[in-house]
Amino acid sequence: MFQRIVGRIQEDVDAIRARDPAARSRAEVILFYPSFHATLVHRVAHRLWLRQWRLVARGLSQLGRFLTGIEIHPGAQIGRRFFIDHGMGVVIGETAEIGDDVTLYHGVTLGGLLPSVDSAAQIGVKRHPTLANGVIVGAGAQILGPILVAEGARVGANSVVVRPVPPGATVVGIPAGVVGEVRHDRPETFVPYGTVRDQVIDPLLRQIEALNVRVAELGNRLAALEGGTAETDGRVDLLPTASSRAVGAGL
Ligand SMILES: CC(C)(COP(=O)(O)OP(=O)(O)OC[C@H]1O[C@@H](n2cnc3c(N)ncnc32)[C@H](O)[C@@H]1OP(=O)(O)O)[C@@H](O)C(=O)NCCC(=O)NCCS
Repeated sequence: MFQRIVGRIQEDVDAIRARDPAARSRAEVILFYPSFHATLVHRVAHRLWLRQWRLVARGLSQLGRFLTGIEIHPGAQIGRRFFIDHGMGVVIGETAEIGDDVTLYHGVTLGGLLPSVDSAAQIGVKRHPTLANGVIVGAGAQILGPILVAEGARVGANSVVVRPVPPGATVVGIPAGVVGEVRHDRPETFVPYGTVRDQVIDPLLRQIEALNVRVAELGNRLAALEGGTAETDGRVDLLPTASSRAVGAGL
């Protein structure tokens, strides 16, 4: 039991280190990261909440808010390896549900919308969003109501999301609309800030790879024409050689 708790805490620390390019050591995360402190306090407060120690749970959650600027209702359900970068101004409502490997930036609200005007009838009713595994929410985004932001989706900074978001989609704007789908091959891989600039390189790499294959084929044909039998291994010197110049000249 104790080992499991320590393991989970370590997991939270390592998730922060893996996702924040500025985090240099475990000690730095444990001492100075509000995400780590807020999540730790919330995990305790949530257990108290589930055991019906609700006033104490609320008190603990308020203490966490005072210390970190991150307000998480003790009723909210939060998965493993959760990370809130910077943290200040984040609000997570009572019936919010958050999957594993979710990342929020500062100023994010997972807020409620009332299905009916009778606030007494709202107790226990799902009013806040659900974020599935691997979701990334940009700074200042507001996600409102009992909607699902599906697995691997990304929400742009300062967006206001009031409709469900499909898996892997990128949504931006007010109200947020889909501008793209996950373009990378490994949606489980975290990309800082939700941007996939590294994937811009991928098509270029693929083109260079195809070019390599084509040049190798031409090299083989040239060798055959010259009466040789040697085959290239598919790796190409990109600087033009005498024979490749001959191919280029149509000789
Ligand atoms: C939404 C986001 C994930 C998209 O990243 P991306 O996949 O690299 O997409 P692009 O930058 O190519 O943008 C796609 C389109 O959406 C627009 N866009 C991107 N982010 C936007 C935003 N927050 N609000 C409005 N439009 C946005 C772009 O202008 C572009 O529009 P265009 O196709 O008309 O030119 C990213 O822009 C974002 O907002 N990440 C959060 C960053 C953040 O919170 N940083 C804080 C760190 S402290």
